[in-house]
Amino acid sequence: MVMDDNELRTVWWEKETLCLIDQCSLPDQHVIVRCHTLDDVARAIKTMQVRGAPAIGCTAAYGMALAVQRSAATDRDALLTELRQAKTILDAQRPTAVNLVWATSRMLEQAQTFAGEDLAALRARLLNEAHAVLAEDLAMCHAIGDHGASLIPSRGCVLTHCNAGGLATAGYGTALAPIRTAYSQGRSIHVYVDETRPFLQGARLTAWELHQAGIPQTLITDNMAGHLMRRGDIDCVIVGADRIVANGDVANKIGTYSLAVLAQAHQLPFYVAAPSTTIDLSLANGDQIPIEERAADEVTHLRGRRIAPEGVAAAHPAFDVTPHPLITAIITEQGVIVPPFAEGLRQLVIYHI
Ligand code: MRU
Repeated sequence: MVMDDNELRTVWWEKETLCLIDQCSLPDQHVIVRCHTLDDVARAIKTMQVRGAPAIGCTAAYGMALAVQRSAATDRDALLTELRQAKTILDAQRPTAVNLVWATSRMLEQAQTFAGEDLAALRARLLNEAHAVLAEDLAMCHAIGDHGASLIPSRGCVLTHCNAGGLATAGYGTALAPIRTAYSQGRSIHVYVDETRPFLQGARLTAWELHQAGIPQTLITDNMAGHLMRRGDIDCVIVGADRIVANGDVANKIGTYSLAVLAQAHQLPFYVAAPSTTIDLSLANGDQIPIEERAADEVTHLRGRRIAPEGVAAAHPAFDVTPHPLITAIITEQGVIVPPFAEGLRQLVIYHI
């Protein structure tokens, strides 16, 4: 959906329903998914009709609001019990992006804090809280753009992986935010877009977004990055994150770690852009981050078509962990954090889950 400000929105509330752009159908078709119930929301997250850590968080917040809207509970204890169950259901859909648990925790806490209100008031309060989660995410993305733009070379080539753009957030993106802002300031930027096997978020979604924005790009398959870096075609790498832990280790889309190793080998800056809702100080290091394992057929098949012999086993870890020594800087809505990350991350204002 394109709003009045000409910006793309992934998640919005319309006629008592949560609307999402179906990210599985892009770029061929522009389909809107309408979620009427908690189960609709859980399914959209699981099947990746909505994906990207901040967008998942915003969606989950509305999932909690919908659970309350649709509840038949007549007293607040029953309502709170249902809300706790809704949180358990939503949290189980995708384990790596901490924004999901962050959002459901915030919604539950809001309900518990104002449990004394009558049920109609509580329902309205939770819907407003979901609207706030969405609005805050959009504002954070713009702030990431403002803080990160100066790191983007004034004439140069930036490599990105997966999709950390408007589709992955409430709008504007995280990794794409500094690129967008720098481009709008007149900088001559060219983006290399990793295809991002197996789900093709780069080819399908990032390429689509950059095309819509008119930002020059070249799509590459994931195994081309080293060659381009060695040839001097890349000036820096910028990616998003699904979870950043206390020592600065970062979980992001599978293939991110390989890019960070390559960037270090070629002495290129490697930037991570994420809002504070992606930071999880409860985990000491990246080994503790749960890594989602997805279905093998997403690897053996490409958009529904088999590309490997029948019966071949395939692995599908959907994320990897980039150790903090490989990261040059973390760009947040509160500013750019440089090593030692543990100290910088501790100083951020964060809503703890
Ligand atoms: O499996 P996905 O598509 O949800 O993974 C998305 C990513 O890894 C993104 O880079 C991350 O969530 C940041 S999105 C702003």
